[in-house]
Amino acid sequence: MALPRIIVAGRIPDAGLDALRPHGNVWGWKHDNPIEIDELYERIDGADAVLTLLTTKVDRSFLDAAGSQLKVVSNVAVGYNNIDVAECRQRGVIATNTPGVLTEATADIAMALILMVTRRLGEGERIIRSKQPWQWGMFMLLGTGLQGRRLGIVGMGAIGQALARRATAFGMTVAYTNRSAVTPEIEAELGAERLDLDELLATSDVVTVNCPYSSETHHLIGAEQFELMRSTAFLVNTARGPIVDEAALVEALRSGAIAGAGLDVYEHEPMLEPGLNDLDNAVLIPHLGSATVETRAAMATLAARNTVAVLSGQPALTPIT
Ligand code: DGY
Repeated sequence: MALPRIIVAGRIPDAGLDALRPHGNVWGWKHDNPIEIDELYERIDGADAVLTLLTTKVDRSFLDAAGSQLKVVSNVAVGYNNIDVAECRQRGVIATNTPGVLTEATADIAMALILMVTRRLGEGERIIRSKQPWQWGMFMLLGTGLQGRRLGIVGMGAIGQALARRATAFGMTVAYTNRSAVTPEIEAELGAERLDLDELLATSDVVTVNCPYSSETHHLIGAEQFELMRSTAFLVNTARGPIVDEAALVEALRSGAIAGAGLDVYEHEPMLEPGLNDLDNAVLIPHLGSATVETRAAMATLAARNTVAVLSGQPALTPIT
């Protein structure tokens, strides 16, 4: 019997490719820049499995280009807003993602952004790099301490909870909003109080976005929500850009409706809303949430294991449900 054809649509760590090779004929894109769509569609024609990155759009055209023999699309990411899951389901294609393995790395980045924006570290670094003369001053770049401040977490899944653990170690108290409450044990461990979104926005010193992106969470945080937030509060987004209305965010940062923002993700990634780049009270990093050597290897390996499971007739380890 012919070995299955497995296409890896973006460059992934060797650990993932090594886990795939014994199970099929593997072709993988070897470059950091994304594969052109024409080449992608040519490569996936007749594939049994495709591993995708969050920059690979899996829609009707993709599924048509692959053909009806396609069994599995394994996203090397926990977020899957790049995949038309309903369309996959209708065609009998299993879609999978990589939850769990990037929880700690992403929570680290959220905590790092909280520290960077509240302590004005980006501004400080820019002063040094500008090569302008500077000297220590009592009032230079005064920031906001975290101790005793409230962190409001929007989306209390695994990453939200991992962030809450970090924040409590920094002396913060935790409130959260989520479709369903976390268990009483977790609430007790984190001292976390569940609030509705409006109350959370109005009472938090730092608001972090940690929920998945969907039509329900599109622009969940926009002009109205910034109005509710304290003028001394900060917003941090490490989830998906379009959960925040970025034009409204620029306005809120400019007008002083909120004190600052730390962003790892952007509404029109990799493009930025005009003006965002010029704001000193915004800390901007390029979607680095899961960017550690260990985490990226674990993501690639889990995606490979999902692929192999489906190709061998087993249930996927982490299907998108
Ligand atoms: C994911 O896996 O969804 C992350 O955004 C990657 O960093």
